[in-house]
Order: sequence, then C-alpha cells, then structure tokens
Amino acid sequence: MTKKLFIKTYGCQMNAYDSGRMADVLAPHGYGVVARPEGADLVILNTCHIREKAAEKIYSELGRLAPLKSARTKDGGQMIIAVAGCVAQAEGAEIARRAPYVDIVLGPQTYHRLGEMVARAGRAAPGDAPVVDTEFPAESKFDHLPEAALPQGVTAYLSVQEGCDKFCTFCVVPYTRGAEYSRPAAAVLAEARRLVAEGAREIMLLGQNVNAYHGAHGGGELGLGGLIRELAAIEDLKRIRYTTSHPRDVDDELIAAHGEVPELMPYLHLPVQSGSDRVLAAMNRRYGRDDYRRVVDKLRRARPDLALASDFIVGFPGETDADFAATLGLVEDIGFAQAYSFKFSPRPGTPAAGMTEQVPDAVKTERLAHLQQLLDHQQRAFNRRAVGTTMAVLFDRQGKRPDQLAGRSPYMQAVILDAAATDAAEASVSGTVAQVQIIKAHTNSLKAVLAPQTRTDGMNSGAVEGAWA
Ligand code: SAH
Ligand code: SF4
Ligand code: F3S
Repeated sequence: MTKKLFIKTYGCQMNAYDSGRMADVLAPHGYGVVARPEGADLVILNTCHIREKAAEKIYSELGRLAPLKSARTKDGGQMIIAVAGCVAQAEGAEIARRAPYVDIVLGPQTYHRLGEMVARAGRAAPGDAPVVDTEFPAESKFDHLPEAALPQGVTAYLSVQEGCDKFCTFCVVPYTRGAEYSRPAAAVLAEARRLVAEGAREIMLLGQNVNAYHGAHGGGELGLGGLIRELAAIEDLKRIRYTTSHPRDVDDELIAAHGEVPELMPYLHLPVQSGSDRVLAAMNRRYGRDDYRRVVDKLRRARPDLALASDFIVGFPGETDADFAATLGLVEDIGFAQAYSFKFSPRPGTPAAGMTEQVPDAVKTERLAHLQQLLDHQQRAFNRRAVGTTMAVLFDRQGKRPDQLAGRSPYMQAVILDAAATDAAEASVSGTVAQVQIIKAHTNSLKAVLAPQTRTDGMNSGAVEGAWA
C-alpha cells in the first residue's frame, strides 16, 4: 500500500523545487504525496531561515504536528517527522531541543539520502536522538537524484545553480546552502527536455545567484546567457525565466540574450536592496547605486519593455533618514513593476546582526510602510498601462473561481481570463500561450478577454511596445 507523504514548503522557489525532488526520492520507497498531515506516515517541513519570522513559524507548525503524531502512534501507526531546508541546516540542535519528537533533521544538500534516513528513523526507538544529516557532501545531490516521478505541469522549476559565495552581511544563505555550485549544462538541458516532454511550456531557472551560473560545457563553461540560448532551441519550450539574479553578475552575454532570445521573457527580478551607497557598502553588496543604474540602462537598451522587480531591506544597521531617502529616490528613478520589501531582521551568525546602530523597530515599520506605498503605486501604474493592450498569456491554472483561467503575462503579471470563461474557446487555451486583451487592472492582477482572432498576428513573443518606457 502507498505510504502517505505530506510536505509543507516555506521560503523561496528553490525550496519548492527541492520539495518536488524529495517526493521523487521517496516515490521508489513507496511514498505518495497527500494534501493533509493528518494520518500521514511521513511529514516533511521544508524550511526557510531568511528572516526571524520565517524561522519561528517552524516551531509553531511542529507544535501543531505533535498531537497528530501521538494520535498516529495510538492508532498503532507511526508518523515520522522530518525538518529539512535552511532552518534544519542552521539550527539542527535547536530543533532537537525544542521539538524532541522530530525524527529527522536534514539540510538542503543531503536530501538525495532521504530514503536511508527514513529507514533509520523508522527503526529508531521512542526517545532516540533524531537522525541528523546536515553535511555539505563532496558529491552533488544532483548526481544522485532519480528522474522526476511527477510532472510539474505547464510551468516548471529547474535548479541550475546552488549556494552563494557573496556573503552579504545580512544574509544566511551562504551558511545554509553552502558554496556556489553550477550544474553541468548537459544535465540542465536533459532535465529541461524531460520537463518539456512532460508538458512544461515555461521553465523558471533557479539559483540563489542564478546569473553566477557557469556550468561545465564541452571542454569549457557556459554562462547563463549561453545556457538560455541552448534552452531556447528546445522545441515546444515557449518561455524561459530565471531568478534570483545579482546585479554584479549581469554580464554582456546575458544582456544580449534579453535582446535577442524571444523565449526569454521581458521580466527581471534584480534585487538592489538599498539606494544608498553607504548602506550598500555596509551590506557588502559590492556595487553602488550608479552601477545598478548602468546595468538597468544596458538591459533596457537591449529590451526596452523589460519589467524590473526588486527586493529591498529597510532599517539595515546605521541606515539614516538620508540613506532611506536615497532608496526612495532610486525607486522613483528606476521604476519597478513589482517589488518585495522587508524590515531588516538580524540573523544569528551574520555580521550585520552584531553591528552597532541597530535601527529601532518603530523606524523600520514607518520606513517599510512609506517604501511599500511608493512601490504599490508604481505597480498599479505599471498594471494600468497594460489596459487596452494585447498580450500573450500562458494560462497554467484555474482562477479563484472554477469558471476562470489564470496565467502570467510576459511581464509576470497574474492575468485572469474574465468570467464567461466557460465557453469552449476559452477553456481550450488552458496550458497554452494565448493572445488576450487586457480590460482591467488591479494592484496584483489583470483581467482579460480573449483577443479577436484577427489579432493573433506575429505577436507571439509577447512584446508590447511601450508597456514600460
Ligand atoms: N540572492 C538574492 C536574495 C535571496 S534572499 C540576492 O542577492 O538578491 C531574498 C531576499 O530576502 C533578499 O533579496 C533580501 O531582500 C531579503 N533578506 C535576506 N536576508 C534578510 C534579512 N536578514 N533581513 C531582511 N530581509 C532579508
Ligand atoms: Fe544572500 Fe543573495 Fe547576498 Fe548571496 S547574494 S549572500 S543569497 S543576499
Ligand atoms: Fe529561505 Fe533558504 Fe530559500 S533561507 S529564501 S529557503 S535559500
């Protein structure tokens, strides 16, 4: 009988990818994924350590799982609880102390060994210490993972790069994910072909620092721009995206790809974090605001309608009103289509956590609200500009209502095909790229109707001239 596996994922897309691969690792051991933890044989929490709030969530979730585990034992069964991902890597001992009923603690680089860990945990006696595997093994997990057991669907994630050597002073990633590593191009291309054969039409290339990609290729190496060109040659792959990139690693080859590869979508998440040179230096970002501006200018020359997204941290230690004003100024100057902003969260073991001049929480709250107001305004303006235009949208899922279809514009906007979507013509665009006319804009989504047939004229790359000038 199939054993029940429940996985809950926190954090970034890399964790989402990893969760899928953990299910692949466990499939040959008889595990099938279920939607609820009640009655599961194995529960995996795939965790995120990036900010304090994210990490603390895990302990409350574990608190909720404890009675489910006891209930399972009373019924004569067994529920194995595993904590995976970045919290496990960063504070395995703390997990074992605060939640002694956790059976397995494993890091992001060891899940190819999950089968063995589960077998060991299954044999353990109550009260035994958990099975812990938080090494950074010499071998790469990618060389030991089975082929995907479950198709990912129309939009698929593909990890091409892992880890980070940048050591921004606020960030835990170099400690939780380890050193930078790029998968060989041949392995990436083979996985991409498999995904497309299983129905994927869009691939999101993933890495903590994805544009630092430099995979082995032939006798040499391939950068991200080169990899994108190779991927674009795969028939039936309509769209390529990548995330997250670092401004310092945007090279000319990648910029050229944005101008020349129609499959590469005109949306780029390029986190700047701050607009103040002083703060950027203290963050160890290794670029200044003018460097960021120059990279953006080059990208926009290559692809004038490129929509930019960013991450911001407010209240980094020592950030003054003038530094914060510089961030607002940069936002006004660049214009973002979308953004994520966070209050600085001091993370154990990172240099910024120990810096003097920590900014009071009330100041962080005020700055965050101010910045988000400006960013929301820009996002709404960007979305409003789409109204009346025709766009190529990849419809990959059902909308909130069963009679709605949802997809993404080339610029990553969520697009909802307006009601009356039950008729056959509209249902038939599910899983395909269709031309739609945008009729309404909200802050986080666009409403659309199918464009008249006459408009399916050579606009398949999805460019809308002047959508963001
Ligand atoms: N590799 C990416 C970022 C990955 S982490 C880059 O270099 O841009 C995702 C986002 O979380 C970061 O961009 C940053 O804005 C935010 N973040 C990371 N550490 C944080 C911290 N200690 N406090 C608040 N936000 C943080
Ligand atoms: Fe973290 Fe990104 Fe900096 Fe790496 S480049 S340390 S992942 S913020
Ligand atoms: Fe979080 Fe780890 Fe991703 S800390 S953001 S899950 S790399």
